[in-house]
Amino acid sequence: FLKEQHSLVYKGAILIFKNGTFLQLPDIDCSRTPPFLVLLVTSSPGQNEARMAVRQTWGKQRLVTGKRIMAYFLLGTTENQNEQTSVTAESQKYGDIIQKDFLDVYYNLTLKTMMGIEWVHKFCPQSRFVMKTDTDVFVNIFYLTELLLRKNRTTRLFTGFLKMNELPIRRISSKWYVGKDEYPGSTYPPFCSGTGYVFSTDVASQIYNISESVPFIKLEDVFIGLCLAKLKINLEELHSEQTFFPNRLEFSLCRFKKIVTCHYVKSHEQLLYWYALEKLGDEECPDI
Ligand SMILES: *[C@@H]1O[C@H](CO)[C@@H](O)[C@H](O)[C@H]1NC(C)=O
Ligand SMILES: *[C@@H]1O[C@H](CO)[C@@H](O)[C@H](O)[C@H]1NC(C)=O
Ligand SMILES: *[C@@H]1O[C@H](CO)[C@@H](O)[C@H](O)[C@H]1NC(C)=O
Repeated sequence: FLKEQHSLVYKGAILIFKNGTFLQLPDIDCSRTPPFLVLLVTSSPGQNEARMAVRQTWGKQRLVTGKRIMAYFLLGTTENQNEQTSVTAESQKYGDIIQKDFLDVYYNLTLKTMMGIEWVHKFCPQSRFVMKTDTDVFVNIFYLTELLLRKNRTTRLFTGFLKMNELPIRRISSKWYVGKDEYPGSTYPPFCSGTGYVFSTDVASQIYNISESVPFIKLEDVFIGLCLAKLKINLEELHSEQTFFPNRLEFSLCRFKKIVTCHYVKSHEQLLYWYALEKLGDEECPDI
């Protein structure tokens, strides 16, 4: 009974959520200027400094080998009126915020990710690839673009840091605790770490379409994994070497030239790493 009740409540939640309107929409007409890669960056209302760091670095609108890269921030709402007002002002100034009416808390991350996927499906199906990542992740968009072009795939691609055999954490004190009522299975389907995953844009529409019939789980990366399993889309490595790091990496220019993501990066580090990569990137590195 509990299980049924849980999935009924959340089935309702996803449906209502899908029908909700966008409070903030970015300034872009994808049919006129289709991006090659859309970066969807989860962020919370109070993290404006982290958003500024991303805007100044890997999230700045630019062409990489002629391919357009755009970054947008995914935000929920806050009960703090001042913060809410400043998000609206920030959206008007930078035109890069996507927001719907749901409370911006960790346990609503699945709704936040689904909002980004809905936006791509409805407003930017002309893009080629989508990446979902976070403001405390460093993204080497140069290497990512190179690898996507080299991969030469335009449909049913899903890649990132693959987690093929994760088990639900049943320890109640854990941040990632999931009860048996929420997820009764003993293993999760394959999924990619939520710190950074990349997919071809057709996958966004397919996930959006199937999401209502997938049991809700608050872990957004697992939820996407459940959708992919239902769609029979397999996860793939982008490169034979590891390039997505869900952990922190010590900075070295030669190392960072050959990674796509690493985690736990502070705003001032975003600026340092980016400056090194963009300005000193031609420095010789040993072949690895
Ligand atoms: C998620 O957002 C909804 C809509 O604002 C809210 O009712 C709900 O309490 C939020 N979830 C959590 C766990 O706070
Ligand atoms: C990319 O894939 C297409 C179709 O699968 C193929 O025709 C083309 O030769 C490939 N290009 C490269 C550079 O491998
Ligand atoms: C959406 O899902 C329905 C069945 O659930 C399927 O018939 C339809 O082809 C799907 N559409 C897309 C765009 O995937």
